[in-house]
Amino acid sequence: MSEYTVEFVGTGETIEVSEKETILSKCIEEGIAQEYSCRVGMCLACSAEIVAGDVTQPAARGLTDEEAEEYALTCMARPASDLKLDRGKYPPSIEDETGAMENEAAAADD
Ligand code: FES
Repeated sequence: MSEYTVEFVGTGETIEVSEKETILSKCIEEGIAQEYSCRVGMCLACSAEIVAGDVTQPAARGLTDEEAEEYALTCMARPASDLKLDRGKYPPSIEDETGAMENEAAAADD
């Protein structure tokens, strides 16, 4: 079983994560303040930008294939190499959803 170093840019936090565990589960175990909500790869709350390295995250259903190249859903992602992650960075689709909700709310006010 391989272990990889996961470094969170801008915070100086570093954890060792095996290829068999999710980055989020290790963050919780180590007391790292990684946000999360659904824990099933749907809500994007646990998203982080992949600055360097690779992850495996076949169950990250909330991401498009293109987004999965640049972002990790830490509740689903397992390291496939040493990593540098920028926590709290979200893929463009989450912005679209927020914008769509705002537009729906504005339409409801009319
Ligand atoms: S916690 Fe919802 S996608 Fe990870």
